[in-house]
Amino acid sequence: MNYRHQYHAGNFADVLKHAALVRLVRAMQRKDRGFLYIDTHSGRGRYDLAAAAHGDTLERTPEWPEGIGRLWTRSDLPEAVADYVEQVRAFDRREGNREPIPRFYPGSPRLVRALARPQDRLSLFEKQPEEAAALKTEFDFERGVGIQAADGYTAMRGQLPPPEKRALVLIDPPFEAQDEFARIVDSVDEGLTRLPAATIALWYPLTERARIDVFFRELIARNLPPTFAIELTVVGPAHPMKMKGSGLVVINPPWQIDRELAALASWLAEALAQAPGGGAGLRWLVNER
Ligand SMILES: C[S@@+](CC[C@H](N)C(=O)[O-])C[C@H]1O[C@@H](n2cnc3c(N)ncnc32)[C@H](O)[C@@H]1O
Repeated sequence: MNYRHQYHAGNFADVLKHAALVRLVRAMQRKDRGFLYIDTHSGRGRYDLAAAAHGDTLERTPEWPEGIGRLWTRSDLPEAVADYVEQVRAFDRREGNREPIPRFYPGSPRLVRALARPQDRLSLFEKQPEEAAALKTEFDFERGVGIQAADGYTAMRGQLPPPEKRALVLIDPPFEAQDEFARIVDSVDEGLTRLPAATIALWYPLTERARIDVFFRELIARNLPPTFAIELTVVGPAHPMKMKGSGLVVINPPWQIDRELAALASWLAEALAQAPGGGAGLRWLVNER
């Protein structure tokens, strides 16, 4: 496992994922009853964007300027985007940044923790030992947060169904392994058997359209509950950039979140465009009944 999220933190894909995650948490909190948030691939929980330009041996072009960097000084953010950017700002300030550019970026566990109510819990999994150790240090036994250095797919099984009978799961793998899509499909299937009403968000990169279409077909073949996918591309299909965009499959979406996320993605598509031909869209894979 070579992947380090450090180099990608705050990039255009993180912006879509994290802005959508904030919307999903807010929607889960429309009900007073608490829920369990499961992050199967948590990362280290926080990132220093100033370090993102240094690889192990090589200088790298940081990715955040084309992501969170594009939103940082805008004064015309729609409410849903502003909600996410304000969470990042609050974290950045709290960590001591006083510069006009972002420095400290919260990963998905930190974002959710900041929004969690006393009745909500977090179960965080990270397989890479150094990242898991950093995650444990970051949360330092905070109340309501459980952390395990473990395979997120296997660990998720043990968490469902939770006593709260409500769960939001984020599956956000690095897609380094050949069988990543197959593992996602199996885990979703098993997760839904244990808690049919679980809301599950799956992140995926838009590198090969054909592969994503196969992934969708395999998901649909598992008899899913209502499910949609939102996608955002920052360049057109013929552009040489490898990852042209990213998407999020949302299974058992909270009521009317499709409209919110579609509006969010289309605003972000304009704000984050790097070349003509990109855009955003939402597609139901399994319709609401
Ligand atoms: C894309 S990053 C996660 C980013 C994080 N969810 C966020 O939004 O801030 C993927 C993480 O998954 C970890 N990882 C890879 N395979 C894993 C597995 N089988 N189980 C748990 N974590 C894994 C990697 O070490 C990496 O830190």
